[in-house]
Amino acid sequence: MNTILECTNIHKSFQKKDDEKLEILKGISLSIEEGKISVIVGKSGAGKSTLLHILAGLDKPDSGIVKFNDTNIHKLNDNEVSKFRNQNLGFIFQFHHLLPEFSALENISIPQMIAGIDKKIADKRSMELLEVVELENRSEHKPSELSGGEQQRVAIARALANNPKIIFADEPTGNLDTANSAIIHELIKKLRDEFNLTFLIVTHNKDLMNIGNRIIEMKDGLISE
Ligand SMILES: Nc1ncnc2c1ncn2[C@@H]1O[C@H](COP(=O)(O)OP(=O)(O)O)[C@@H](O)[C@H]1O
Ligand SMILES: [Mg+2]
Repeated sequence: MNTILECTNIHKSFQKKDDEKLEILKGISLSIEEGKISVIVGKSGAGKSTLLHILAGLDKPDSGIVKFNDTNIHKLNDNEVSKFRNQNLGFIFQFHHLLPEFSALENISIPQMIAGIDKKIADKRSMELLEVVELENRSEHKPSELSGGEQQRVAIARALANNPKIIFADEPTGNLDTANSAIIHELIKKLRDEFNLTFLIVTHNKDLMNIGNRIIEMKDGLISE
């Protein structure tokens, strides 16, 4: 068993209007295993998204350490963190954030091209990824011509484009009905089993919790399992 991501004693407070500080994370330590689905649960406002953002280098903790293998990400400068994220991490959000004026294929290719990959190579990779999410016959469709579940599958294909080692997902099925959610859950399991991908998922969805290898509960700024 390999640890891919480890955080130690993460603290985070937010300043409230009345000058008072609200401590959201009170010393969180966690190890995430490679090739597993770890699920974070907890009440609304418990700090799940805050923790996910800090683990993914999108936000900084007040104190504490986040390490991917040997990289201490909060020691990197802003440019280095962006580069690290682009090369190693994938993101899936509740809303797909696809570009409406571009096709499914283009939505997957554009981030690769921004990262410096030649269009032909990017498009070939995007087509392979559309096959992985079983949407190869929708490559020319714009987001508005796809169902909600299909849009989210394109967003998942896009998240896979840079070959990430770990995927962070914040309520990835929060906007979908039961049938479409079930398709996404099966897809996440397939990606774990076939590509040994690691997932760290925040969710309220019981069915999504059920595919987790591990459930982490956040409560009062700390975690229990
Ligand atoms: N940028 C911010 N500034 C001030 N307060 C914030 C900020 N981000 C989150 N919070 C507060 O921190 C708490 C935890 O938020 P969040 O991590 O989004 O919770 P969850 O994802 O578990 O619902 C909430 O009370 C929220 O209002
Ligand atoms: Mg949240």
